[in-house]
Amino acid sequence: MKRIGVLTGGGDCPGLNAVLRAIYRTASARGYELLGIEDGFAGLIDLDRRRPYGNRMMSEEMVRGILPRGGTILGSSNSDDPFHYVAPGSDREEDVSDRVVDNARRLGLDALICIGGDGTMTIAHGLAGKGLRVVGVPKTIDNDLLATDYTFGFDTALHTAVDALDKLHTTAESHDRVMLLEVMGRHAGWIALHAGIAGDADVILIPEIPYSAAAVLAKIERRRAQGRYFSIIAVAEGAVPIGGCESYIEQARPGRAGRLGGAAERVAAALRALEPTLDCRVTVLGHLQRGGSPSPKDRLLGTRFGVAAVELVERGQFDHMVCLRTPHIRSVPIAEAIARRNVVDPQGELCAAARAVGICLGSPDEL
Ligand code: F6P
Repeated sequence: MKRIGVLTGGGDCPGLNAVLRAIYRTASARGYELLGIEDGFAGLIDLDRRRPYGNRMMSEEMVRGILPRGGTILGSSNSDDPFHYVAPGSDREEDVSDRVVDNARRLGLDALICIGGDGTMTIAHGLAGKGLRVVGVPKTIDNDLLATDYTFGFDTALHTAVDALDKLHTTAESHDRVMLLEVMGRHAGWIALHAGIAGDADVILIPEIPYSAAAVLAKIERRRAQGRYFSIIAVAEGAVPIGGCESYIEQARPGRAGRLGGAAERVAAALRALEPTLDCRVTVLGHLQRGGSPSPKDRLLGTRFGVAAVELVERGQFDHMVCLRTPHIRSVPIAEAIARRNVVDPQGELCAAARAVGICLGSPDEL
């Protein structure tokens, strides 16, 4: 019997379990056994790792009932890149990718399915270059992976963000306040833009359009002049002021990316500096966007991706990632998916639609 390994890497997102269930059921029906690797690549770097289970053969009992569950039953890690590994207690990066390839062979893996975002896909592609037979499945709430219309997890995060905007509306209106909601998305503004449009924000600030606080204030004042004394601002965590840079609460260090944070608070401070009478409140949605039960759309996409990933293994189409080309599930070389980041086009249809319905995107020409 042939053996496939599967791991979930990077930050978790809703829909991972839907993919795992689909992979297990498809693989076992086609005569493969499936080994679940614990905590992303960490489970291949150290075969003795047990947190709490270690790598284990997957079974129907493991996947039964997990479709609506958030998180990942395998665990995940966004700090165990084998090409830039920092061992516990060390502060130096080392390349342990050969060890990962050896360990995959020791585990008898004929193929490895890696479910993750751009970081995981970059690692998977690197391991493919060392002879490992990998297949990728794109996930991330940020939707910043190229070569797929959407990643699963994005839709659920969007629901959470829109729900938060709906709730902020009622309290903002009661108190004549400026409510700022900071959403995730890293260096891409997809969550802020989609949620802002769907959640009726007055201003949306995304990394792709550096903002002018004066333009934001002008929008708030135009609304006040029309008798609308509250305003809602959706701020992507990667939003940048003109001439400034992203706001970090933790700088990058060996083996770990920097942590974005503080973008909305910075906008509020800039607005207060321009107009001290403004009553601004900031809500940071944070990891709520990554948790909870996946939306039906994410369950469906995750299931379709899982089935397609096993089919790629069957066809021997390695170093490829499954993707959505609406309405079809297709595949692309992983290299294509990681060539650059998928970001919002400031001149694109979505930004034009936002502007058309009166949303301010913070650029100085909106003063
Ligand atoms: O990439 C997903 C994501 O949730 C980003 O939107 C966010 O910047 C980051 O991960 C947060 O990572 P962590 O879980 O390490 O705080």
